[in-house]
Amino acid sequence: MSAAGDHLELIVFGLLLGIICLIVSLICHRRNARLLGRAPPGPWGLPLLGYLPFVDRLAPHKSLQALAKRYGGIYQLSMGSVRTVVLSDAALVRDFLRHEELTARAPLYLTHGIMGGYGIIGAGGDIWKYQRRQLIEWLKALGMTRKQCETRAQLEQRISCGVNECVQSYESEAKEAELLDPLPALQHTLGNIINDLVFGETYERRDPNWLYLQQLQEQGVKLIGVSGMVNFLPWLRHLPGNKRSIRFLLDGKAKTHALYDRIIGRCNQQLQQQQQQPKRSILAHFLHERQPYSQLYCDEQLRHLLADLFGAGVDTSLATLRWFLLYMAREQRCQQRLQSELRSLSESPTLAELEPIAYLRACLSEAQRIRSVVPLGIPHGVDQDTVVGDYHLKRGTMVLVLQWAIHMNPAVWPEPEQFRPERFLNADGDYAAPAQFIPFQTGKRMCPGDELARMMLTLFAGRILRRFHIQLPAEEAQRVDMQGECGITLAPAHYKLKFTHLEELPKNS
Ligand code: HEM
Repeated sequence: MSAAGDHLELIVFGLLLGIICLIVSLICHRRNARLLGRAPPGPWGLPLLGYLPFVDRLAPHKSLQALAKRYGGIYQLSMGSVRTVVLSDAALVRDFLRHEELTARAPLYLTHGIMGGYGIIGAGGDIWKYQRRQLIEWLKALGMTRKQCETRAQLEQRISCGVNECVQSYESEAKEAELLDPLPALQHTLGNIINDLVFGETYERRDPNWLYLQQLQEQGVKLIGVSGMVNFLPWLRHLPGNKRSIRFLLDGKAKTHALYDRIIGRCNQQLQQQQQQPKRSILAHFLHERQPYSQLYCDEQLRHLLADLFGAGVDTSLATLRWFLLYMAREQRCQQRLQSELRSLSESPTLAELEPIAYLRACLSEAQRIRSVVPLGIPHGVDQDTVVGDYHLKRGTMVLVLQWAIHMNPAVWPEPEQFRPERFLNADGDYAAPAQFIPFQTGKRMCPGDELARMMLTLFAGRILRRFHIQLPAEEAQRVDMQGECGITLAPAHYKLKFTHLEELPKNS
């Protein structure tokens, strides 16, 4: 063969080798990418502070929603020293939150500092797993089950007592004043339902300890909000304003725990006297099953569990009902449609009467959608490097479920600022929630109190609107801020409504 032919052969061989190397390296790269995952996109931030200075402290959910519009259903940013992944796509949320590695909680200074890893909301690892399993069992034993049974009927009875007291309070308050703030009666009665189920005790409305606990709850929830800068820049705790807030929270914890210790003492005595009686509270179940010397049953664990259940149970349900009443008063068309169905029920309708009313459930769901009471979800943490789908998540990352963006996405909910319960009804008029509706979140840490919450919301909403027609007078409508105040929960500021006995209105009004 000639020298030119040899040369050509070498070039072809070289080219082929080059192409093979390229293909092999591409395959390796893709495999590695699959193994290691890629980092979600996201904005740059400032050194040390990250993106924190650009997050609106009063409405963090809206700042993060604006980024979701730019970067999509998953993005990352730095909140001070905490790397944060934000999810605003329900399918991704489902995928992420079923992973074991994401069941930890984010290492936030305030929550970790105050809760110390005890209880259930801020706990992780074995304490959380064991406590959660037990809590679900105890809630079931107290009647929190969808199955119709004796214990569920008893739970409904206990909730009904609080609901009826609330309706009676509105009845007498409406006789004395033209406008009334629905919050105090709601807070007292709903709070007492949870007190009854968690502690086995209730309070008189003017009891100083109860007034203190309610005020602490209202203030504490605002201070602990994930937007708190101290969570992400712990050195800020030395500033005087932050020092005051932290002292307020720690004093509150000490006083609350002292109050709890007295209740625990009383419950212990009762248990000794009535050993064979069914256990009527979470506290009684805990004490009954307590194993001495086990960290899973230590005093700190019990106190934090009680505080967590009171906080998680009251604050979310209360904020939901306050948004519901506000929107129903504003949206007279919806209220009239609902009341046309409620009027045919008994005066104090039961769950068996209320649950089949699809429009009531749709109104409650629409209130939960339009104002997500946990707009940033409850943050999760990643406890070891892991890959979910295409993404690589590093240990120590905080994962936020941006419920606000999920529930206000115009591609799923056209004109999201419009209150339209019909979104939750199918063509046959039956209740049907779109898959993007996740007020209780999903996965391994999903709210364990969802059914109890549904029972309370249905009974409060159904019985209040069975008894009263509510209106938002024009001057209140102008004054009231529909955006709400954001701490851990998003709740409306105080507002007043006009309550009129439904029977005093003509049937077609
Ligand atoms: C409308 C009412 C409620 C809403 C919207 C709500 C929502 C939520 C959400 C979003 C979470 C976070 C889930 C996660 O981290 O993935 C949660 C957790 C939790 N909720 Fe609820 N909740 C409500 C009522 C209740 C009630 C009545 C209870 C009382 C038993 C309760 C007890 C808890 C507890 C103990 C947790 C922590 C679970 C864990 O960390 O494993 N919630 N809730």
